[in-house]
Amino acid sequence: MTTHTHTRPLGATGPRVFPLGLGCMGMSAMYGDADRAESIATVHAALEAGVTLLDTGDFYAMGHNELLVGEALRTAPAARREQALVSVKFGALRGPDGSWTGYDGRPAAVKNFAAYSLQRLGVDHIDVYRIARLDPDVPIEETVGAIAELIEQGYVRHVGLSEVGADTVRRAAATAPVADLQIEYSLLSRGIEDEILPTVRDLGISVTAYGVLSRGLISGRYTAERQLAQGDFRSFSPRFQGDNLRHNLSLVEALRQVADDKGVSVAQIAIAWVLSRGEDIVPLIGARTRERLTESLGALDVTLEAADLDAIEKAVPAGAAAGERYPAPMMAHLGR
Ligand SMILES: NC(=O)c1ccc[n+]([C@@H]2O[C@H](COP(=O)([O-])OP(=O)(O)OC[C@H]3O[C@@H](n4cnc5c(N)ncnc54)[C@H](OP(=O)(O)O)[C@@H]3O)[C@@H](O)[C@H]2O)c1
Repeated sequence: MTTHTHTRPLGATGPRVFPLGLGCMGMSAMYGDADRAESIATVHAALEAGVTLLDTGDFYAMGHNELLVGEALRTAPAARREQALVSVKFGALRGPDGSWTGYDGRPAAVKNFAAYSLQRLGVDHIDVYRIARLDPDVPIEETVGAIAELIEQGYVRHVGLSEVGADTVRRAAATAPVADLQIEYSLLSRGIEDEILPTVRDLGISVTAYGVLSRGLISGRYTAERQLAQGDFRSFSPRFQGDNLRHNLSLVEALRQVADDKGVSVAQIAIAWVLSRGEDIVPLIGARTRERLTESLGALDVTLEAADLDAIEKAVPAGAAAGERYPAPMMAHLGR
């Protein structure tokens, strides 16, 4: 594997990071069982390869993911631990049965969430802290203002945002410097290109892109026959159902042709395409095994020429995906 020394900025005010971040959610939740030892080995291998940004959320299996990331950090060599930057999402409320019961962005809640996250992660500060979805009852200024206080107190380094609309981005940035907006962006999910991307660029805010493989749909490995565990996000995601799935997998087959012609994998083409969108975009890869990590990191060695980009666009034109990226009740929380 090539050694990569190049970094990308996390906004005008944030740190520079390795061009790919590691999203740790799937190591605890959303995509069926994961192997804990392999998950931790994957975090270690990512740090060894130079990855700096690790993304988690306090609600990913109710603290499980933070405890896992904390253990991975504690058991990593000191130099690797020190290079790690931890991005944490908070605010999503859960019930004991795992149900999703709303969002809480009140300042007292923000500080309470942070206190528990610091403890679970076993760190003295969180590098980027963000509410997962806007709390409709709390102005963003209040939530971001609470994070700014945590920054003043040394518990947090930078403000991030997640899945908010352009107006909220502007209001947040007027309250405190914002490093990045975490939002879904992939060949199948290009919704940010019209308004949100120009807005964050105007404000010097980077994008940490998630769902770059559309939750495995455009990994090149997903099949219509796949059996999903109970509670797997894909069992209720519109893009993975019936005719939508058949249509979306036909797009993947067109993309496979482009990947084959370049001698790379479908996942690598999909990640390389997001990387090609700009230096201010940092894809979060959802690898939870070392094998998938190695494949994803290989995307950094893929150079997409104009002809490749044309071929990709023909294979998966903007707006080609069938089905929304979340079920309707969850769509209602996006872009506010
Ligand atoms: N802010 C938000 O609202 C939000 C929402 C969702 C996620 N996120 C963050 O973004 C991160 C990435 O999202 P995601 O996990 O949905 O992304 P993703 O990369 O689109 O999907 C990951 C899925 O792709 C499959 N896959 C196949 N080949 C892969 C490869 N080479 N590398 C990686 N995965 C491969 C994995 O399945 P197998 O492991 O079964 O192979 C896994 O189920 C999350 O971990 C989380 O930190 C943020």
